[in-house]
Amino acid sequence: MSGNTQTRETVLVVEDDRGHRELLAEELGEAGYAVTAVASAEDAEQVLAQHAFSLVVSDLRLPGADGFQVLEATRAQAPAPGFIMLTGFGTIDQAVTALKAGADEFLTKPVDLDHLRLAADRVTEARQLKAEVRRYREVLAQGDGFHGMQGSSPAMLRLFDLIRRIAVADGSVLITGESGTGKELVARALHAESPRAEGPFVAINCAGIPEALLESELLGHVAGAFSGARGARRGLFTEADGGTLFLDEIAEMPTAMQSKLLRLLQDGRVRPVGSNEEIATNVRIVAATHQDLQTHIAEGRFREDLYYRLETFRIEIPPLRERGEDVERLALQFLREQSLARGLPERRLSPEALRALLRYPFPGNVRELASLMERAATLAAGEVIEPRDLPERVFEQAGNAPAATGAADTADAPVPGVADDSQWPTLEEREREYIQRVLEHVGGNKQRAARILGIGRKTLYRKLGETDPT
Ligand SMILES: Nc1ncnc2c1ncn2[C@@H]1O[C@H](COP(=O)(O)OP(=O)(O)OP(=O)(O)O)[C@@H](O)[C@H]1O
Ligand SMILES: [Mg+2]
Repeated sequence: MSGNTQTRETVLVVEDDRGHRELLAEELGEAGYAVTAVASAEDAEQVLAQHAFSLVVSDLRLPGADGFQVLEATRAQAPAPGFIMLTGFGTIDQAVTALKAGADEFLTKPVDLDHLRLAADRVTEARQLKAEVRRYREVLAQGDGFHGMQGSSPAMLRLFDLIRRIAVADGSVLITGESGTGKELVARALHAESPRAEGPFVAINCAGIPEALLESELLGHVAGAFSGARGARRGLFTEADGGTLFLDEIAEMPTAMQSKLLRLLQDGRVRPVGSNEEIATNVRIVAATHQDLQTHIAEGRFREDLYYRLETFRIEIPPLRERGEDVERLALQFLREQSLARGLPERRLSPEALRALLRYPFPGNVRELASLMERAATLAAGEVIEPRDLPERVFEQAGNAPAATGAADTADAPVPGVADDSQWPTLEEREREYIQRVLEHVGGNKQRAARILGIGRKTLYRKLGETDPT
């Protein structure tokens, strides 16, 4: 959004002739603009320093400093308001100079009021488009994001910051979060941000390896250590020497192995299976799980002492449904990746499709969103992803999403058993209630609330009786 979007677009009129000034102000006011009018360049500068405007309409010839000075003052604003210069007959040269100096349009006096309206609309619309393009550029500029992780929600920005700080500390890290939230990406980012970045990053999925093999996999073995162990083998601990060892699905590690791991972490020495010798290693441990380790500890399936040893630092990744801002960014990123990988045209999300995604609770988190976008990119008929390109469950679940369930108890069965008509709430009251519920659900994030409600942010502010502060 542009920096100064208010309920109405704002215009500053600078014109010394009082009659003309009032005429311009009235015309623009009728066209729907919120108008401020001043008589000199000096006054204009003062007002510009304090308020953001969408558009400045200034006479070229003013007493004292002229319209060029006003133009210069508007150029100094970020984002700069649009600018329309009003020039007298026979001053075309100056009009051209004004355009070169950054004015968007010029109109010759006496000003044709229809032309003025058209020009004002054209300039403010172009400015809105520019702001939108700028926003998309920012999204694109983030590109690979933080070590492959996209996210601009406050929660993700905090996460990136935490990763940077923990990365340099070298203690072990436990990463928790639901399935598909990006635990592996966080582990890789921790490594990449750490002083060990040049060293190896070795990952092992503790759930994917038979119990009998896990020990030799991690610690290595000497030749003939057990049946099937032909040659000697370096374990992953040794391979990760000088780098990071990522123990994924740590909750699935058998308890016997947990004890060995604990001992190893305490003295930093590895004894390969069948060997009498210990090898010193220098490995940073990063572990991850989507399980609740406290429950595993309570049930005797996970060693509490190992838990504390692993959890020098803890990183908890919030589920996707709690960071709605990231849904759009991630969806666009996945669509772009699909387009690049498969030579498909660039795809966008229709507002309806985006709204559906924002209501969906994503039990499979980011991984699920990625697969939804892969599917949608395949099914979409044109360059816009429509709700029909999303699977049925997105809409079924939407009814159960917090945003919708919260609303159900107010929206359904309004006031049972009340005969008196005046006891029934008005549509406006109901609407206000619903808006408040949605706002609560999104923690006051108006942009997200507006998306869920299917209205523009401006409209939302109007309904709340507030002025858009940005
Ligand atoms: N913030 C993100 N930005 C971009 N891609 C992401 C992000 N988070 C996750 N992904 C992608 O989502 C998928 C799942 O991530 P990952 O494998 O790290 O999840 P996980 O938390 O380890 O899940 P599980 O518990 O099921 O193993 C991967 O393809 C990953 O690249
Ligand atoms: Mg994983």
